[in-house]
Amino acid sequence: MAKNVKLLCCAVLLLALLWCRAAWASEPVPAIVEKVCSTCHGMDGNSVIPTIPKLAGRHPDYLFKELSDFVSGKRTSEVMGAIAPTIELGELRKISAYFGAQKSTSEAITDPIAAALGEQIFLNGDEARGLPACGGCHEDDGSGGKRFPRLAGQHRAYLIEQLHKFRTGVHLYPGARFMREVAKRMTEEEIRAVAEYVSAK
Ligand code: HEC
Ligand code: HEC
Repeated sequence: MAKNVKLLCCAVLLLALLWCRAAWASEPVPAIVEKVCSTCHGMDGNSVIPTIPKLAGRHPDYLFKELSDFVSGKRTSEVMGAIAPTIELGELRKISAYFGAQKSTSEAITDPIAAALGEQIFLNGDEARGLPACGGCHEDDGSGGKRFPRLAGQHRAYLIEQLHKFRTGVHLYPGARFMREVAKRMTEEEIRAVAEYVSAK
């Protein structure tokens, strides 16, 4: 009898845990996402505007770090520099967790020749010119992590614009130091090729 009671208790506990997990996974959309962010980044973080980054599936720590840099003004952006400081840090953390938990979409390849060159650079870099393989930090499949953002599926136009901002020193915040060195070593053709390749991952 006592054994049956124990078993029952275990079963109830397990069900409760499973229920909690399910409730957590279907976390409601934070109100600010619906009111503010979704206009540009989409409700699920898959922006459909090529110059506006997808946030879906980017690591929450990366998203929060960028948002903090917009708040402090370290990373400059007319749009985000105006929006981010109006939101509490705790709220920005929740929003980062929400977008990080969404699934990223991918773009279609429009130029297979460029994509092939992009793949070569992404996976191998060019040692002779000191150009490192992007995959060494961003992972070979572009899925990224906490410090090195996911590039897979990101919009081509946004990727190209960011590489230009690193190369020309628009991005001067501390986190951009690696990318400034990387982007300086890339030709215009290589920037476009890598963007073509990784946006379709
Ligand atoms: C009016 C359009 C607009 C709105 C609204 C907006 N964003 Fe942005 N967001 C942008 C643009 C444009 C960029 C690219 C900035 C740059 O060029 O560096 C960006 C960049 C970002 C980035 C950096 C992404 C990366 O890959 O580095 C994060 C994180 C972000 N936004 C979060 C948010 C959140 C959270 C909200 C809502 C509170 C929001 N944005 C609202 C336009 C917008
Ligand atoms: C030594 C590690 C390292 C290597 C190698 C590297 N990156 Fe990065 N990359 C970073 C870091 C760190 C960031 C985040 C910078 C920040 O905090 O905003 C970044 C950010 C980026 C971004 C901006 C993403 C966004 O969402 O705004 C792009 C685009 C990018 N890298 C492309 C590349 C490409 C293309 C290559 C290969 C040619 C490459 N990276 C190689 C470390 C690296």
